[in-house]
Order: sequence, then C-alpha cells, then structure tokens
Amino acid sequence: MENIDIALIMSDKSYIGREVVVAGWVRTARDSKNMAFLALNDGTTLKHLQIVVNKAEYAGDLSGVMKNGVSVKVSGKVVPALKEGDVEVNADKIELLGDCPADYPLQKKYHSMEFLRTIPALRPRTNTFNAMLRVRSKLSFAIHRFFQENGFTYVHTPIITGSDCEGAGEIFRVTTNTYADALKAKDEDSYILGDFFGRKAGLTVSGQLEGEVAAMAMGKIYTFGPTFRAENSNTPRHAAEFWQVEPEVAFAKLPDIIKIAESMIKYIIKAVLDECPDEIAFFENAFEKGLRDKLQSVVDSEFAILDYADAIEILKKSGQTFQYPVEWGLDLQSEHERYITEQVLGKPVFIINYPKHIKSFYMKQNDDGKTVAATDLLVPGVGEIIGCSEREESYDKLKAAMVERGMNLADYEGYLELRKYGTVPHSGYGLGLERILMYVTGINNIRDVQLFARTAGDLM
Ligand code: 4AD
Ligand code: MG
Repeated sequence: MENIDIALIMSDKSYIGREVVVAGWVRTARDSKNMAFLALNDGTTLKHLQIVVNKAEYAGDLSGVMKNGVSVKVSGKVVPALKEGDVEVNADKIELLGDCPADYPLQKKYHSMEFLRTIPALRPRTNTFNAMLRVRSKLSFAIHRFFQENGFTYVHTPIITGSDCEGAGEIFRVTTNTYADALKAKDEDSYILGDFFGRKAGLTVSGQLEGEVAAMAMGKIYTFGPTFRAENSNTPRHAAEFWQVEPEVAFAKLPDIIKIAESMIKYIIKAVLDECPDEIAFFENAFEKGLRDKLQSVVDSEFAILDYADAIEILKKSGQTFQYPVEWGLDLQSEHERYITEQVLGKPVFIINYPKHIKSFYMKQNDDGKTVAATDLLVPGVGEIIGCSEREESYDKLKAAMVERGMNLADYEGYLELRKYGTVPHSGYGLGLERILMYVTGINNIRDVQLFARTAGDLM
C-alpha cells in the first residue's frame, strides 16, 4: 500500500474506517500499561497524527519505535479520536525506518530561535519551521497566481550580472581568478581582463534592469528569484541572499504601480488566511497576538499614502527622541519608518516622492527638480517591504543621473538603449519575500524565515 499524507487523513472524513499506511517522524512517544501512543508528523500538516497501539493485540516489538525523533512506517486503521472531529490510527504494524539516538537535539521542551539557528539541518522539524515553510510556499505560489491571473509574463532575469542596479556597491563578486592570479597581476585592469568574463561580474542585487528590458517588449512582466547583497549590516531584517518579486509594467505611472502593489499584497495575504488557517493560529499563539485580525484588516482596508515631506514634518513634530536625525533630504531609518507606520497610522503606508539624491539613478525625476516618483511600502513591525518607482524614461535625464553618480556608462549600454528606441513611461517594484513572510508570521528575525539563514559571517 502507498503512504498517505497525514494532512489528507486528518482533513478528509472518508478515511475513517480505512486501512492506511503513513510514514513520518515520531514527535512524542507515550507508554502506559495497556496502550502506547505515538504523535506522528510527516510534514504535510502542522498537526500530529496519533498512533494508538493496543499492546494486548499488538504482535511486534515496540521498544525501538517509542522514541522521540525516530522515523517509522505505520499500517493501521483510521478511527475517530476521543476529541470531537479528530481521527487517530489504530496500529497493526510499526516499522522502524531510522533510529534516533538520545543525543537528538530536538527534545520535547522549549527551544529558543537562537538555539535552533545552531542546528539548521534539524530545525525544519519544529512546528515553527513546519508552519513557516508551508506559509512561504503558499505565499510564493499566490504571488505567481496573482501575476499570472493579471496578464503578466514570468521572466527569469540573470543571476550573474555586470551591473549594480541599486548602485550601493553591495555586490558579491563572481570570479574564477585565484589568489595566485591576484599576486601575479600587474594591475586591476589586467586582473579583471584575465577573469572568466573579461570584465567585472557579480551576483545580481535586483532583476530590475533586465526586467525593464523584458517589459519594453512584453509589456507586463515579473521576475521572482534570489537576489544577493553583501550588506554587512547585522540587523534582523537584512539577509545576504533573499528572494525578491519584481514586476515591471510598461505605460504605468507611479499611481498605477501603487495600485498593483496594493492589490498584490491583499491578494497574497488573503491567500495565506484562506489556505493556512492552522499555521496562522499557531503563529498568533507563539509569536504575535492579534495576528489574524491584523492580516484581515490589511485585506479589508485601504493603505495610506504619505508624502516624504509630510512624513518628515510628522517625525519632527512627534516629540520623540530618535537615534538618527530627521531632516528633509536624509533617508528614513528603520526607527522613523516604524514610528510612522506603527504609532501614527497603524497600517501599511506608501511613502512617496523621496529626495532624488538618496534614491537610485533610474528613478523618474519629478518636475520640482528635487524629488523622484518613488515609493517605499512600510508595514508595522517590519518597516520597508517594497521599494518601488516610476522609471526615468528620458534618455538625457537618465544619462545625466548616471554621470552625476559616477557610474560607468559602458556597463549600462543596453539599458540606455531602451530610452533611445521607443521609450515609454514604465514602473515597477521589488517586494522582499522574507520581509512579507516576517509580517505574515510575526517571526521577527529574517534568519528564521529562510531554510538556511544567509547573513554576514554565517554560512551553515
Ligand atoms: O528597495 P530595494 O533595494 O529595491 C530594489 O532593489 C529595486 N530594484 C526593486 C525594483 O524596483 N524592481 O529592494 C526591494 C525590496 C525591499 O523593499 C526589501 O523588502 C527587500 O527587497 N530587501 C531585502 N530583504 C532582505 N534582506 C536585504 N538585505 C534586503 N534588501 C532589500
Ligand atoms: Mg529600498
């Protein structure tokens, strides 16, 4: 007989009375005089299936399977459990697949998230990671669904690039040069020329520039994949490798792309509420009181839109003491973002029209000569989850912005050509998957919403 997912057995009443085979890991084992009980988890649901052994009728040897962490295969009959609505399995046979010695680090007790980070290969077997990984999967699939249902083409932008989209120099270098090559090199130019591509290469920080190329042909595209930043900031919100969703829309202006971003966030949060009720209940209990209501209100209410200049005024008049200064022209720090979205508005907010010199070269310059048509979406608890802008479509203005920033125009030749040949207004954004996952689960460290955390000084 084939194994049946525990998720199916526990949700589909037609299994009651049927003989089944299930396989999984024992979470807890409890023995009494006449009966033995195993809580079995196979990863398909947060719930454990109770395996019941009537010792008087059971022929096999139970000693090897009555242990936390062992993997087993169980044959038996599905029956209603004592608790209304639940089912359990009366075991005829339990086969030990893999033993688990007593030094198994996941004993039945509370483990801190910090401790779990030291056992990356085993932490997926906790309820927290079981729930997080399933929500991450559902969220990702909902993102695809949203764009597919709205006429976007999914494109795969390259991981290895020769450009720096955000211009922040946080690039992981890609090279086949060796230490010996470096010692032999006369100068940097010859060192780079002798490298695999014959020019500087790196891991992409954003698929945007190549996404714009695709959008200038396909109209509406999105890319969804890993991006990399050698960001040496040790914060709970920055990872060196993270997933980004980046739509790019031809003919869209800033208000149009804001509407798309808002609908997408609502769509994907609603999907998680509908598809992961057990997981959200778990996170509500373990990580964030009021989580479900918070998410429901995001789906139901309109996001706020606030001009950067007004945000600065609000911060100045707040009477708060911030660690970082507040002044028109300075970037908003996490503490400022959180004050506005948590204390002032209590809901997601698009901050629009940032000063141009604190933002990237590609952003559309507003007529005031000072600001750009850019927005960040901030949410309570996390801060920025989306970076968004209308793109500068004028060849001359774009080129000037690049020259002003000392960029090497040769690296962006193709990108500039888009403005020369049939340029159109267009806009796009990047949503950090881990950031929205933190918001949706209440998990407050980015290291705990990735299967393997990728942060500076930490590669497990
Ligand atoms: O605001 P960012 O830097 O924008 C861009 O990269 C644009 N090129 C996107 C676009 O318009 N296509 O990054 C976008 C989002 C951020 O809002 C944040 O959610 C996430 O990516 N992000 C990070 N997430 C985790 N760790 C990091 N180090 C991140 N840096 C950015
Ligand atoms: Mg940003």
